[in-house]
Amino acid sequence: MAIQGKKILICVSGGIAAYKINYLIRDFVKKGAEVQVLMTPSAENFVSKLTLSTLSKNPVFSDFYSENGTWNNHVELALWADVILMAPCTANTLGKMVHGICNNLVIATYMSAKCPVFIAPAMDLDMYQHPSTKQNLELAEDFGHFIIPAETGELASGLVGQGRMAEPETISKTIEEFFSSDKNSKNLAGKTVLITAGPTYEAIDPVRFIGNHSSGKMGFSIAEEAANRGAKVILISGPSAQQTNHPNIEIHRVTSAREMFDQVFNFYENADIAIASAAVADYAPKEIAKEKIKKSEDELTIELIKNPDILKTMGERKTKQFLVGFALETQNEEENAKGKLEKKNLDMIVLNSLRDEGAGFKNDTNKIKIFTKTELKEFPLKTKNAVAQDILNFVEEQILK
Ligand code: C5P
Repeated sequence: MAIQGKKILICVSGGIAAYKINYLIRDFVKKGAEVQVLMTPSAENFVSKLTLSTLSKNPVFSDFYSENGTWNNHVELALWADVILMAPCTANTLGKMVHGICNNLVIATYMSAKCPVFIAPAMDLDMYQHPSTKQNLELAEDFGHFIIPAETGELASGLVGQGRMAEPETISKTIEEFFSSDKNSKNLAGKTVLITAGPTYEAIDPVRFIGNHSSGKMGFSIAEEAANRGAKVILISGPSAQQTNHPNIEIHRVTSAREMFDQVFNFYENADIAIASAAVADYAPKEIAKEKIKKSEDELTIELIKNPDILKTMGERKTKQFLVGFALETQNEEENAKGKLEKKNLDMIVLNSLRDEGAGFKNDTNKIKIFTKTELKEFPLKTKNAVAQDILNFVEEQILK
């Protein structure tokens, strides 16, 4: 069973539907999952800790400290979970989640988590229809969370409409499907995936550099996704604020294109798949001034020399590697992408256009087209995590052909 052995963290907030969570916990435990329950303080008015802890076979926490003075570590709880399920998720908890209002253990745990998050909202029909709820659910989806929509029926208020928490069977089925779906397969187990990410900075003098707006988000998302699929990931990242502590990811941070080049070729030979998502600077100052350049003349000329093309060199040295490049184009997108596929000896290229709103550098979303020598596939605007899944699904299809 797909749920067997999975670690499910259920966060209960204060709605009448909380009583249904008892059935859900029993179902998960029966199917072999490990269940841990957290509650918001107001959820305690609806369902007892004793019931939840007896059913889940684990202590239930609602505060940062237990009565005996021990600290309930939200980071540990968050990292323990394979999935987090917010159910029932009240309007209040939903609002806090998407706006980072971290005033209880549930939200602190949610904000410390890296795993997928499922949200089963439950509220009165007018609250469910309220623009703030709609907007908050959209935001949660943009974060990459999965919404299990509320159902229509009789509500605690006596009114009839949409707002009832999805039935425990529906929630259980959704989570089970998630664990059994392809994207959670360990298809990349045994493979080494080399990924470049972020910008590069080319020093002009000790304080200045030539760089670009790449955030590294796309490359880190691909790295996390490949690692989740069982790959050993070598991530070579230029200066980026992105972080990861996935156990399958070995990260090497570099600054310049030259440094990135050197690190890439420390690992390339043993890689099965190489994905170059870094926005490497094409040129670097010919000489780096030893001291900060003083402003004096009205004009300053900096002589640039071409950086090595890392991806092109990977193409030239290709033996067994499945090689994926990126193209960020502003004009003649498809033609340029196909040209690069050919010129750099790639197996696949991912095109994102700066013309598409929400695509490209700093956004959390991206809109891509994938080309191989014989195929073209176009995808809608998605979160970068979802795009990472699409890219790796495509890679898997190609290498498992
Ligand atoms: O030719 P262009 O820079 O547009 O190609 C983009 C692709 O090449 C990206 O996959 C990028 O990571 C890679 N690249 C590289 N080294 C460079 C320039 C680009 O690996 N010096």
